[in-house]
Amino acid sequence: MATKNSGDKLAGLYHKGQDKIWDGKKYLKECIDRHGGINISEENADALHNIFMIILWGELAAWKISSALATELDDNSARMAATSQAHDEARHFYVMKDYLDLLGKESPQEDLNRHADRFLSYILDANHISKKLLGMQLMVEPLALTLFKIVREKNIDPVLTDLLLMFERDEARHVAFGTLHLPAVLKDMSIAQRTDLWIWQFLGYMKQFKILYSLEDSFEQLGIEPRSVYESARKKQLHALNMMAEEMGIKYPLAETVMKFSDARYELGTSSEKRSYLKRLIRATEKVIA
Ligand SMILES: [Fe+2]
Ligand SMILES: [Fe+2]
Repeated sequence: MATKNSGDKLAGLYHKGQDKIWDGKKYLKECIDRHGGINISEENADALHNIFMIILWGELAAWKISSALATELDDNSARMAATSQAHDEARHFYVMKDYLDLLGKESPQEDLNRHADRFLSYILDANHISKKLLGMQLMVEPLALTLFKIVREKNIDPVLTDLLLMFERDEARHVAFGTLHLPAVLKDMSIAQRTDLWIWQFLGYMKQFKILYSLEDSFEQLGIEPRSVYESARKKQLHALNMMAEEMGIKYPLAETVMKFSDARYELGTSSEKRSYLKRLIRATEKVIA
């Protein structure tokens, strides 16, 4: 059960969500009118499509998970936050679909990047609400926020830049939902369940890398340094975990270890800097023993 304080904050997320509701169809049309449509090269359109097709299907996963949480959680304030999130994710899904259609690209789910598909399925198929909250709110959402911010700051397509501002505003509430409510869920779990959760998280965390590697060419096409995406996502995910730990009044138990392995895993797999495998292996080993 959430404490009175976190309960008020969770219900507050619902009310904030209601105050900040936006009409996706209307807003997208305003963006198009303001910027005179989408005027970008075919190469940039392909790169944006590669990245945002993952976001599109990630939005659907977030919609399904938040809807499941709205029925599975016991706490009514948390249920309000989950319901509000489900409403936001439905909007994100249809607006992103409309935007990708405007790019002139088809985005069927069966063509989804297979690494992203595996990562999202891992969270959708999770067998406990703690895993759904941790996986979606504290891994997927911070990763999505990272991509939004980096692409928005490059201002490759002003229509997308304006859209992403609205997405980011909503997604920040969804991360807050996880950091506020996961501590209450953890309190009711046994040591064995928590251990199972940390192992599940570690394995899930490692699955993100193949998505980032598979997007390296698209990032480079857009003038984005692939390493900066990893570093920024790492920072946001660690921050979300630390916020959760703060809410529990503890230090997050595995943060340092997870981050060391994470850095090593990144070094090992990245090909964007054209280092030999041996050099990447040495860098990875240095990260683990640092
Ligand atoms: Fe979303
Ligand atoms: Fe979200």
